[in-house]
Amino acid sequence: MSESPLDFYRRLMLAPISGVTDRAVRRIARELGCRLTFSELISAVGLCVQGRTAQAMLESCLDEHPLVVQLFGREPGELSEATKMVDDLGPDGIDLNLGCPVKRVVNHGSGMALVRDTKRTGEIIAAMRQNTHLPLSVKMRAGWDHDDLTFLQVARIAQEEGADGLILHARTRKMGFSGDAHWPWIAELKAAVSIPVVGNGDVIDGPSAARMLAQTGCDGIMVGRASLGNPWIFAEIQQYLTTGQTLPPATLQTRVDVLTRHLRYAVEDKGQHRGVQEMRKQIGWYLKGFPNVKELRQTVNRLDRLEEVIAAIRLWAKGLAAGLMPIHHLTPPPLSENCRFTFHNGKSVQQTSDLQQVENHPAADLTENQLPTAATGHL
Ligand SMILES: Cc1cc2nc3c(=O)[nH]c(=O)nc-3n(C[C@H](O)[C@H](O)[C@H](O)COP(=O)(O)O)c2cc1C
Repeated sequence: MSESPLDFYRRLMLAPISGVTDRAVRRIARELGCRLTFSELISAVGLCVQGRTAQAMLESCLDEHPLVVQLFGREPGELSEATKMVDDLGPDGIDLNLGCPVKRVVNHGSGMALVRDTKRTGEIIAAMRQNTHLPLSVKMRAGWDHDDLTFLQVARIAQEEGADGLILHARTRKMGFSGDAHWPWIAELKAAVSIPVVGNGDVIDGPSAARMLAQTGCDGIMVGRASLGNPWIFAEIQQYLTTGQTLPPATLQTRVDVLTRHLRYAVEDKGQHRGVQEMRKQIGWYLKGFPNVKELRQTVNRLDRLEEVIAAIRLWAKGLAAGLMPIHHLTPPPLSENCRFTFHNGKSVQQTSDLQQVENHPAADLTENQLPTAATGHL
């Protein structure tokens, strides 16, 4: 490992979102200021038996930096072998998924099921550790439900077995995506371990990132749903935390330009048919809050060719002012001097917890139950 675990995890990062954060999404996020991206979850057994989906997902990660590859599985032997395969490809880090609550994954004994079998979890992390010198992290939820919180126990095991970092989505399995993420669990985790802790859950803009840092003392922040169709969020958060300034929101013209680039990347990676099909949801996310998007989506859903889709988007945008902002845009409150924070080798400055709340931000309302079967196809 060339940098310390603290430097590695002290970043603003893009969460793995299966079926969404593919190579094109990660590429756009990095271009717009994201400091670390994660692959979608990849099945360890899929890699071991050379399953097509898992292999293709791993191959799509080639040459991407900085990137952490996330694995899931239940057998220490399989995860050890998969770790070796991933390590050979030279990503920047490897992550073990202990947080996936989806039935297909849990019934197989992977993802969240492992937090109920801590002996096996320890064996898996130890086996993975033996096969890589790359930063190794564990991403988890807080536990099964409020009466069965496992994150502290799992974290201590992970630390003992040689994990370099922990990522906590501050919800239980039972919570799904309902209610607010319970950030005090992140603070508890930070106090309980000596390895870096990344906070995750409900960070939607600069002020909420500042609040998470202030309230939990976490080292890094991971952003998921709020980045969908909004890759500017990374620069926005960095800017807010380091200067207290807010960046102007992306205008219609900027959105159309980045969306067009995103479409081209998707087609480059997946071919015209699949690339265009999979981008349909992204178009809705990028243009949410602008007039007549429903009609545009209906048009685009009938198109199969990249250039036709781009032409339809441009024609739609032509009818609107280029400098238009989405109707849901909110101006965040100012950040006071003593709350400033710099990620990645920067120095943390004193943080306070009296930041104003910004509510009703339009974070995308995806749920993990919408996980596509492609990701879990090798169970
Ligand atoms: C549709 C969907 C798919 C997800 N896929 C994964 C995954 O593959 N691996 C993982 O660790 N977490 C996955 N997550 C959880 C996110 O990484 C993240 O922990 C969660 O969305 C909370 O962060 P947020 O509030 O910033 O979105 C997924 C979430 C959603 C909504």
